[in-house]
Amino acid sequence: TRPLKVALLGCGVVGSEVARIMTTHADDLAARVGAPVELAGIAVRRPDRVRAGVPAELVTTDATALVKRGDIDVVVEVIGGIEPARTLITTAFEHGASVVSANKALLAQGGAELHAAAETHGTDLYYEAAVAGAIPLIRPLRESLAGDKVNRVLGIVNGTTNFILDKMDTSGAGYSEALDEATALGYAEADPTADVEGFDAAAKAAILAGIAFHTRVRLDDVHREGMTEVTSADFASAKQMGCTIKLLAICERAEDGKSVTARVHPAMIPLSHPLASVREAYNAVFVEAEAAGQLMFYGPGAGGSPTASAVLGDLVAVCRNKVAETTGPGESAYTRLPVSPMGEV
Ligand code: HSE
Repeated sequence: TRPLKVALLGCGVVGSEVARIMTTHADDLAARVGAPVELAGIAVRRPDRVRAGVPAELVTTDATALVKRGDIDVVVEVIGGIEPARTLITTAFEHGASVVSANKALLAQGGAELHAAAETHGTDLYYEAAVAGAIPLIRPLRESLAGDKVNRVLGIVNGTTNFILDKMDTSGAGYSEALDEATALGYAEADPTADVEGFDAAAKAAILAGIAFHTRVRLDDVHREGMTEVTSADFASAKQMGCTIKLLAICERAEDGKSVTARVHPAMIPLSHPLASVREAYNAVFVEAEAAGQLMFYGPGAGGSPTASAVLGDLVAVCRNKVAETTGPGESAYTRLPVSPMGEV
């Protein structure tokens, strides 16, 4: 069978792990897909910073030329941010490539348009890695629960803030002390604004709500409150009430079923609730569906290796679709329920 050619855009913590696993597990991947899966090129901004073990002969700084090469079957985008990721992904579709992306910001802002572009060109857009790292959520919501009716998705989808809140709770540390520790351990970014102000969780909430309720939810539709104002005193009073504090993403279908809401804010959780025992940088998401009842998804929500696991799962899926000359579920799955500006908090 003809080998499938993969272009990797971005080779940071996640990308280098994807490249490593693609190389070391090439035989397993080929067996699962039914055709060899070849790394054909790796686009980076700073070639001098490429990690050890990444095949240097595949590295280029010209991502556009790589995507336009004409023989690429799948583009894996792990550069993040809106541009140039959006243009590169659109160009990939125009050249017949399927796309695997870990880009929550882009998916939360322009997911519907990208789905439409993929559909126009008969290609796939998969992004399991965009939400909660290794935890399978997108595929279960989109496929396993496709015959059910999801009414609520609720959980902890940001590892950095969970780590900070957990530290504040267990060691009595203040916010900035806990943030420093999260930064030192590599959880928080140099600029932690997206995490601590809730933008990262809000982007994930938008993506989850869109898929769970078969509609379009954008980042701007999500009510957002960060966790920078949570103090040690708040934890002390929460403790007196038998609670802890978590930054939650909550996506709900309105009772009349005619609209949906999504929000992110710090919330008190009774210690008896399973979400209260989600420690350090772990994520956990509850899904409530009419027939299935309550499901809980739990695991590492960030980090190079867990995120690479989700990327590779998507890579196998889109490669299988290429071999079978078919595509997975796309934009036509959307029914477009309106998003209410704000649900009751
Ligand atoms: N900054 C994110 C987090 C990374 O802390 O969860 C994973 O999306």
